[in-house]
Amino acid sequence: MEIKGIIDKNNLLIDYLMRVKRPIVLEEVIFELESKDSLDKTLNFVKDELKRIDAAVCVPLFAEDRLIGIFTLAEKENQEMYSDEDIEFLSTISNQFAVAIERAHLHQELLQADKMSSLGTVAAGMAHEIKNPLASIMGMTEMVTKALETGDSETIEDFKKVVPKELNRINDLVQNLLTYAKPPKLNKNSVNINEILSDVLKLFELELMQKNIKLKKDFGNVSKKELDPEQIKQVFTNLILNAEQSMPNGGELKISSELVNNQIMIKISDTGIGIENDKLKNIFDPFFTTKEKGAGLGLAITYRIVKEHDGEIEVDSNPGQGTTFTLSL
Ligand SMILES: Nc1ncnc2c1ncn2[C@@H]1O[C@H](COP(=O)(O)OP(=O)(O)O)[C@@H](O)[C@H]1O
Ligand SMILES: [Mg+2]
Repeated sequence: MEIKGIIDKNNLLIDYLMRVKRPIVLEEVIFELESKDSLDKTLNFVKDELKRIDAAVCVPLFAEDRLIGIFTLAEKENQEMYSDEDIEFLSTISNQFAVAIERAHLHQELLQADKMSSLGTVAAGMAHEIKNPLASIMGMTEMVTKALETGDSETIEDFKKVVPKELNRINDLVQNLLTYAKPPKLNKNSVNINEILSDVLKLFELELMQKNIKLKKDFGNVSKKELDPEQIKQVFTNLILNAEQSMPNGGELKISSELVNNQIMIKISDTGIGIENDKLKNIFDPFFTTKEKGAGLGLAITYRIVKEHDGEIEVDSNPGQGTTFTLSL
């Protein structure tokens, strides 16, 4: 393509197009100047500009009321004038052009906004999570240095207990973050969901009993499915752990599975504190947590894994009454 001339946005031609809001045709401008007011400054300028950029027709691209671009057409090869139909056609496609350009633009902006906001959320969440254990390790280190001089064995014992625990917290966080950022490849096997559920529940049995949480299992006859058992285990672990944490004063945990339209549907219900309506839309966001010691990654990872299995996850909650997560796989 050959560049015929540059038009900046302060150009009078742009002003003129914004005013008339329709394609302008060089022939018509010349005709108007000859028949009427040959001294019209603006029209003369428009004529000169069109000639300068070698445009027989100049079509504005409007998105709503904003001029987002123009396109120009040189003289026809056969030297004929552009007809009214030509111009009409150009106007129509210019509208479609404008809409398409605007949409592409908007989409780009949204994508970017999305990326920026999740990057910001992740950075803020990371910083917050690491700061606490780090502060306690730093405090402990300072204290133990003195304790080593004075032979204060109590502080040294504290150090031995606390520091590995805090380091583990950071380690777990980094591990979870990596799983979230770069989920391991799916390692699929033909597995029975009920067996996976039972395996996970075994790990919770004692804790549930101690917390006065009654477990109700209602496993249906579900067929085997191609899944990554380790990752699905993680999904159930996260959901059951959340359910348990939502019932500090005991309650009931109900877990069911059934086959619906060839899909396995698993429900995990608790009678816990529930989730406020306005928070429902955030619970799957990384680092969203309402817990003092929560990392807010459990549901984000869960969502990732379910989506990678082409499954669905839904939540239904009544504050003060309980929450049900429904999975279909
Ligand atoms: N069963 C549940 N009952 C009540 N609230 C829940 C439940 N599951 C999740 N939530 C809410 O969703 C938030 C995010 O959960 P999650 O991603 O597992 O992070 P975390 O458990 O570390 O807070 C929780 O902090 C809690 O507010
Ligand atoms: Mg959790």
